[in-house]
Amino acid sequence: VVLVVDFGAQYAQLIARRVREARVYSEIVPSTMPVAEMLAKNPRAIILSGGPSSVYAEGAPSLDRALFEAGVPVFGMCYGFQLMATTLGGTVDDNGAREYGRTPLTVSKSGSTLFEGTPDEQSVWMSHGDACSAAPEGFTVTASTDVVPVAAFENDEKKLYGVQYHPEVMHSTHGQQVLEHFLYRGAGIEPTWTTGNVIEEQVAAIRAQVGDKRAICGLSGGVDSAVAAALVQKAIGSQLTCVYVDHGLMRKGETEQVEKDFVAATGAKLKVVDAEKRFLDALAGVSDPEQKRKIIGREFIRVFEQAQLEILQEDGPEVAFLVQGTLYPDVVESGGGTGTANIKSHHNVGGLPEDIEFELVEPLRQLFKDEVRMVGQELGLPDEIVQRQPFPGPGLGIRIVGEVTKDRLDLLREADAIAREELTAAGLDRDIWQCPVVLLADVRSVGVQGDGRTYGHPIVLRPVSSEDAMTADWSRLPYETLAKISTRITNEVADVNRVVLDVTSKPPGTIEWE
Ligand code: XMP
Repeated sequence: VVLVVDFGAQYAQLIARRVREARVYSEIVPSTMPVAEMLAKNPRAIILSGGPSSVYAEGAPSLDRALFEAGVPVFGMCYGFQLMATTLGGTVDDNGAREYGRTPLTVSKSGSTLFEGTPDEQSVWMSHGDACSAAPEGFTVTASTDVVPVAAFENDEKKLYGVQYHPEVMHSTHGQQVLEHFLYRGAGIEPTWTTGNVIEEQVAAIRAQVGDKRAICGLSGGVDSAVAAALVQKAIGSQLTCVYVDHGLMRKGETEQVEKDFVAATGAKLKVVDAEKRFLDALAGVSDPEQKRKIIGREFIRVFEQAQLEILQEDGPEVAFLVQGTLYPDVVESGGGTGTANIKSHHNVGGLPEDIEFELVEPLRQLFKDEVRMVGQELGLPDEIVQRQPFPGPGLGIRIVGEVTKDRLDLLREADAIAREELTAAGLDRDIWQCPVVLLADVRSVGVQGDGRTYGHPIVLRPVSSEDAMTADWSRLPYETLAKISTRITNEVADVNRVVLDVTSKPPGTIEWE
């Protein structure tokens, strides 16, 4: 394993991903972890991430010198570079040499492990206030910029390397190459980590964990739960039962997709609970978004627990495990953890035991989203599941502004299917993050169709581009695609006479309308 020491989360995750792109397994550890504990993990190399602090700021994270003396290759980036410099006796000062953004870097390559084979002049991404003016003793300076004399250094004998910039961001044109040079040449690591290894490892680990007991997995139709279930299915076969709650708020064809394609690809035992009527009854007369969300969440838990109860009552070994599609970013953001926590599933359905305790099986805990997709592909899941864009748990229930009824859902399903079909046909699926299609059920406007006046509902298209859904921008879709979607929806969907485009970024708008 390669450890990425985290001095500021947004950098560390990206570095960990880049290391894995170099086909070397990496894990993130907090900078507060004692060095002895880091070394106990037997890392093949350690990378020190960038971070927001100045090395001289009060309370700025520091590092025990022992880290550099353990014989483990270390690569410091930005803050990690400055920390390496000051810890080992170099000089870092606030000399006004600030650099932010794209910066030309001049490289002196002779004998450099990191820069060999890269151009003498390259563009790198800088973000620093303080700067290193003298490298520690025994180090060779290998790069500089107009304002920073020491922008990279290395001590090949001790296997210590550092760069002032951020090689992990794509604006650093040769960043990945430099990182790979550190991993392969500096640390002597072979690039052998693949998603294939992950599957083998996880299958063995799941078998060991579950033994001959049974497990349950809730399928939402989304990527994570589908891949987690497929992996567990591969490991324990019929000891797994998947539960899919059809709340009637799914898009056209989605339930069928889970029922047919998922089962065909995995052979999993699937229990589909048709709960449409129950959800629609509970939603009758409700237009308030928060109330809708609460009702859908509540009913979902009730239906799921009822299904669990039925499975518990079937003949067979003890049902002791619950499969969840937790991903690595969730693990990092919640502060790590060992994955052994038990969760309690409290009931509100008569007849359930006082509380059921399940142990969690989380086979995707080490993976980033794109890796989950690769694992899914390798497990034979169809593209429609693996490449699926995000879709909210409450489904179309929060895309009807107004009361949710069966008729309105059917109408929205038609409009949404047309939009999705045309976006796919135009090859835009990978360009956009998602495109909610919203029915303004309480709004009507006047139109003309054929020779007659119409008084129908508007449909809103909300295509957005985003990295992580925390912020988003509206997607500049080609006019021809928008025109086609608009024409088809107004022609083919009864009671819709207008299609409008949402051109709001997030913030201030959220992605979904409710
Ligand atoms: P907002 O509307 O908050 O959405 O900008 C951000 C992202 O989250 C999705 N979303 C949800 N996903 N359950 C989910 O699993 C929910 O209740 C939910 N609400 C919003 C939304 O589609 C977008 O990708």
